[in-house]
Amino acid sequence: MLQMIDDRGTGPGAVVINRADYLAPAYWIDSVDLCFDLDPAKTRVLNKMTLRRNPDVPAQPLKLDGEELNLARVLVNGQGTSFKIEGSQLVLCDLPDAFELEIFTTTCPSKNTKLMGLYVSNDSFFTQCEAEGFRRITYFLDRPDVMASYSVTLRADKAKYPVLLSNGNLVAHGPLEDGANGARHFAKWVDPHKKPSYLFALVAGQLVSREQRITSRAGKEHVLQVYVRPGDLDKTEHAMVSLMHSVAWDEARFGLGLDLERFMIVATSDFNMGAMENKGLNIFNTKYVLANQSTATDIDFSNIESVVGHEYFHNWTGNRITCRDWFQLSLKEGLTVFRDQEFSQDLCAEPSARAVKRIEDVRVLRTAQFPEDAGPMAHPVRPDSYIEISNFYTVTIYEKGAEVVRMMQTLVASINDPLGRDGFARGMTLYFERHDGHAVTCDDFAQAIADANPMSDLARLLPQFKRWYAQAGTPRVEALGAYDATARTYTLTLSQTCWPTPGQPVKEPFVIPVGLGLLGIDGQDLPLQLADEPSAIAGTRTVVLTQASESFTFVNLDAEPVPSILRGFTAPVVLEFGYTDAQLLHLLAHDSDPFNRWEAGQRLAVTSAVNAIKSIATNADGTCANVLNDAYLGAMREVLHHPTLDSAFKDLVLTLPSETYLAEQLDVVDPQHIHAVREAMRQQLATALKADWEAAYAANHDTGAYTPDPESSGRRALAGMALTHLCLAARTSGDAVWPGKTLQRFKDAGNMTDRFNALAALVSSSHALADQALALFHAMFKDEALVIDKWFSLQTSAPDRGGNILPAVKQLMKHADFSLKNPNRARSVISTFCQGNPAGFHRLDAAGYQFWCERVIELDAINPQVAARLARALDRWSKLAEPYRSNARQAITRVAARSDLSKDTLEVVTRALGQ
Ligand code: TRP
Ligand code: ZN
Repeated sequence: MLQMIDDRGTGPGAVVINRADYLAPAYWIDSVDLCFDLDPAKTRVLNKMTLRRNPDVPAQPLKLDGEELNLARVLVNGQGTSFKIEGSQLVLCDLPDAFELEIFTTTCPSKNTKLMGLYVSNDSFFTQCEAEGFRRITYFLDRPDVMASYSVTLRADKAKYPVLLSNGNLVAHGPLEDGANGARHFAKWVDPHKKPSYLFALVAGQLVSREQRITSRAGKEHVLQVYVRPGDLDKTEHAMVSLMHSVAWDEARFGLGLDLERFMIVATSDFNMGAMENKGLNIFNTKYVLANQSTATDIDFSNIESVVGHEYFHNWTGNRITCRDWFQLSLKEGLTVFRDQEFSQDLCAEPSARAVKRIEDVRVLRTAQFPEDAGPMAHPVRPDSYIEISNFYTVTIYEKGAEVVRMMQTLVASINDPLGRDGFARGMTLYFERHDGHAVTCDDFAQAIADANPMSDLARLLPQFKRWYAQAGTPRVEALGAYDATARTYTLTLSQTCWPTPGQPVKEPFVIPVGLGLLGIDGQDLPLQLADEPSAIAGTRTVVLTQASESFTFVNLDAEPVPSILRGFTAPVVLEFGYTDAQLLHLLAHDSDPFNRWEAGQRLAVTSAVNAIKSIATNADGTCANVLNDAYLGAMREVLHHPTLDSAFKDLVLTLPSETYLAEQLDVVDPQHIHAVREAMRQQLATALKADWEAAYAANHDTGAYTPDPESSGRRALAGMALTHLCLAARTSGDAVWPGKTLQRFKDAGNMTDRFNALAALVSSSHALADQALALFHAMFKDEALVIDKWFSLQTSAPDRGGNILPAVKQLMKHADFSLKNPNRARSVISTFCQGNPAGFHRLDAAGYQFWCERVIELDAINPQVAARLARALDRWSKLAEPYRSNARQAITRVAARSDLSKDTLEVVTRALGQ
């Protein structure tokens, strides 16, 4: 049932779509023959389809989706026909059971600022069809369960658009005789695979490519191409190498090979998201393609590897098997994020680098997804309803979805397959045997993994496990430990609860796999033997919590152990255990599980921070000092000097929990207090450990010839962190030596990572040299858009000192390089400030909220997807302390009161206000 919640807005209005209302399509589209005459002002699209009635559903009219199209002609079997326009749909009645339908429309790509459908970027044409962009190109059954064969002819001016690309294989190309003096040409592409409309793509423009021929394990030849603008070829090597690694990895780990002769990646600087997995023609945001050592940081290199992998892996998980409807989005996204995470881990030579990657992934989950799951936009991994599907490309669908898949792998583990990797791979094989070429559901996926592992915990618990798909919210697991010295037993009691989320007041217990270890006094793992077991298991084991509360009793323990619970972060939950500082210091010093070793340090820092934040409110002068105790500082000193821990891990341990993460630990949030405390902690780490930072810098600053491998990038990260703290220490001591050295390193750097880290150290300590370095940096990279994005975002995310950042942001928006229309640039200034600089944004005078309100409204008229994401900056308003809370609500109300909002932004602000 479609339900009107509001009759405002243009176009279709805000209609709620419900998962329960799924109906199979009334018609199937077997083939689509598209012909484009590409012109920025008026592109003509001729769409010839063959359709047939779906015999499984009652006879009914054909309703095709269309948006912002000019309709010129409709023919059924070559004859004119009557039709109706109902809202945004083209409706045809009294059709034969099978027929050819020809539709001729025009669009205006140069005015398409939404970047959905066909648009122009830097004088080239690009498309973005997921989720519902194809309807902006032609009338169609624009839903993922309608899979058709496509052939595409592109016709355009040859000088302006020498490269013409679409999905599949190039079958013909040549000059066109129709244009003046033969200046036009054409290319015809045929995709050998059926696909849903959201995977359609075309690209036309002045592009150049890096090409690589490869032979698969099966002996097949393929050509891989990366297309960029002329001048950017020297930044394509890493993307190509990442693509080759991706192809090899999917063959090796899952037996999934490349099913195309030609696989293309094209980069564009105007893109709403990271990248898009269009069949055989992936389109990427330049941010996730272009890199060389002088323009990109280690983080950029690593993101490119992940995103190239992600889009490539979609070729099987998403394209070969796709989603029945958009409620199943996590079927492809959660699974594909899991696959790209595993890919990046498998590329690491060292186990410690794998652990670093895992910690980074969990950090994203906890700082972005946990707040989402606790706020007004909370939704299950498989949502029940939406107004605008673009709003549901969320960290819940992606990152929590990946954790759900990861738990399935954990739950199919067995004695011979302790991680569940083999069992999970068997499940994937069965999934493809059953569903290749079809549009399916999350249930189908879970069933295949379970059926391939009939003896597993997953198979045994499947119906209950699937609550992870149905129930939103982050479960809390409370653990209690009791040691019985006479019985020599240790009983761990685990209890789970989950707070209500919108529309879900009560939750049923989840299936929660909990990785577990017990540490002895010497820090070694103790053998683990449950009361009813004949013998012990060494190291880590997984217990599965299925009830509201359960106890696990371990025997043969001579002394009270220190429990290491939720090792490897085996489930996306909040774990609570009344650890003493001594226990946490023990885990930080000894835990064999690197995740929990890191986590122990975070817990110590969180406890100190939360205590300080609570007491700052009662401090007359609002200041705080000595937040961190000597034991913590001593432990950090030991980590910095540790002989065997690697630098990347040290960098993670020494990084304090973010302000956003700290906010989630509090019931009432005063962003200024959190900022003051965290800054005091940073300052304390800087001053107390000055000599240790100097030593760390000395040991790590020279990483030799640049390669973006985990080992050397870890050393660069730690060297950068050392500089940041040495510059911070100089703030109080007045010492000029380290800021001077930092400026010199900035000037002399042989790669962007070292250069940017030095610049960031000056900016983040607000040193007087920062302005000079920023100006130099801009001059050096004025023609590199992605570097200029970094230049903007570094300034808008800088620590707020006395409210200085908002005026700086406003000033930066007047810079000649600023543009609201380019999503990367708008995000680097506006979103970075509103979403990445809590203290700058949440001002006592509410000027940050006023700024947000104006930008959301301004952006919404240009690009609703970008606006709706920015709109989410105030998701957590109801947790704020006064006067922030009332001021924030007022700002949201002002946005919601606009009569001309897109349904994207309308949905976000209405949910924020709880309506
Ligand atoms: N499917 C893409 C991915 O995850 C996401 C995506 C790219 C997208 N562009 C989009 C989603 C535009 C919505 C709108 O790889
Ligand atoms: Zn994806």
